[in-house]
Order: sequence, then C-alpha cells, then structure tokens
Amino acid sequence: MLSPIATTVADTRSAVAAARKAGRRIGFVPTMGALHAGHVALIRASRAETDFTVVSIFVNPTQFGPNEDYSRYPRTLDADRQLCAQVGTDLIFAPTAEEMYPPDVRTTVEVGSLGEVLCGASRPGHFRGVATVVLKLFNIVQPDFAYFGQKDAQQVAIIRRMTADLNLPVRIRVIPTVREADGLAMSSRNRYLDPGQRLNATCLDRALKKVDQLFANGERRVPVLEAAMAGIVAATPGARLDYARVVDANTLDTIAAVDRPALAALAVYFGATRLIDNSLLAP
Ligand code: PAJ
Repeated sequence: MLSPIATTVADTRSAVAAARKAGRRIGFVPTMGALHAGHVALIRASRAETDFTVVSIFVNPTQFGPNEDYSRYPRTLDADRQLCAQVGTDLIFAPTAEEMYPPDVRTTVEVGSLGEVLCGASRPGHFRGVATVVLKLFNIVQPDFAYFGQKDAQQVAIIRRMTADLNLPVRIRVIPTVREADGLAMSSRNRYLDPGQRLNATCLDRALKKVDQLFANGERRVPVLEAAMAGIVAATPGARLDYARVVDANTLDTIAAVDRPALAALAVYFGATRLIDNSLLAP
C-alpha cells in the first residue's frame, strides 16, 4: 500500500493534528524528492524515534538561482511514493508551488553571514530560500523532531541557528552522510553525471579522506589542509573546484588552525553539475 499523500496545507494540518491527538510524536523529513538511500536513512531515523513520520517532497523554487537546475531537477513522485511506503512513511506532503507560494507572498527568512560563505558565495539567496521553506514546512507540519543530513553541512548549521534564534519548538537531528560503495556521497544530482564524470566524482571523498589522514597525523594548519583538497581536485580530469575550505564547524568562520571542531568542505563542478561533500574534524 502506498503512503497517504496530502497536497494542501489544510489536509496536512488535519492529518498531523489527528496523529498528535492520538498521542503520537511527530517526526519530519523535508526533501525535494528523487529519493535515494540518504533520504531513506533520515526516514528510518524518524521512524525509530517518533510515532508518525511525515516526508515532504517539494522542489523549492526559491532556493534555486536563475541559472541553476530548477526546471530539470529530477521529479520522480511515483518512485518516491513507493520508496516511502517500503520504508514506512505515515504521510507525504507534496504541495504545488502555488500552494506554498501564493502570488502575494512577501516574507522571507534572512540568515545573515552563515548564508554568505561556502555554497552561499556561489549561490546568492540560496539559503534564504532554504530557511524560508523549512520554516514554512515546520509551521505546516509542526513536528517534534526534524531530520537533516550531514551531507548538507551548511544547511544544517543554518537550520540549527534559525531554530535557536527564532525559538522554534522542534528538535533538529543530524544523520551521517550515506555513500555509494566507492565513497561518492549519495545525491539526487549524481544522476546528471555521465559515466566518466561519475568515476571521477570520487575526488571529493578522496580529498576529504586525505584531509582526515593529514589531520590524524597531527596537521592543524588550515592552508595546508585546504591545499591538499584543492590538489586532489586539480589532478582530476573534468573536475573544476568551486571551493575547498576548512572552517569553524558551528559559525563557518575562517580559522587559521584546527583548534576547535572544524568542517572540511568542498564543492566541485563536473560540467554544469555541482557536487558537495564534507567531513568533520574534531581536535
Ligand atoms: P534534498 O537535497 O532532497 O535533501 C533532503 C535531506 O536529505 C537533506 O537533509 C539532506 O542533507 C539529506 N541528504 C541528502 N543526501 C544525503 C546523503 N547522501 N546522506 C544523508 N543525508 C542526505 O536538502 C534539501 O533537499 C532541501 O534543501 C530542503 C531541506 C528539503 C529544503 O527545500
């Protein structure tokens, strides 16, 4: 049996309200669909911790730049519904863009400096779009727990900050990155890669493993760690580096040495496809 699907805010609210009235704790997994094993790990975590799991499937237009892949982003609702049913999802919320953004909408969430570095530098406005849609989804679903992937580390930092700054009554859970057998982080965008690009896309994971290894051997100088990542990407055919950075894991601020929890993160283009990955460094 397929999981029930709601397309309106009103239907979602009443289904969640009924579950809450029955004493169930609500878990929420926001997604843009094209679901893969990374999303499944989030749904499983919600099922393990809560009694009613809501998955949203919404390709959010406001987080895509004018020259990005909004129109060609994979939309696979039938397959997504089947996967949700297999894993066990109590409700899918799959609204239209009009349901989420009526013509007169004006208000957005300003995320400040956290949204200007790393991915924010090459995707202006992206994290405003993410924070705004996530806040809207939180207000529609009103979950007790919400599940995000470490794969999108900057998104996690921004959602955590927003949750604290705006006193949102939801607990944020972060799930480790799920990878393919060769180390490539699972992503809905991996399907854009041609076979050659797919093979070379392991350079992100290899760069992060190199940093982990240098760090384990005592290297703390950020420029050395960043150069090691950049070098591996530069040696990879077809790969174009967007950034390779080591920053404060919480504030995303620039640091000179890893003397506090840090995030090694990189973004690499293969043709028009932009891939990201990251690793936490704990001194
Ligand atoms: P999407 O890219 O579909 O990802 C949905 C969730 O799955 C995010 O929390 C993301 O970090 C997580 N995820 C993706 N790949 C993963 C992997 N390989 N391992 C573990 N988790 C993974 O992120 C978004 O959608 C959107 O920005 C959204 C939050 C839904 C707002 O529109």
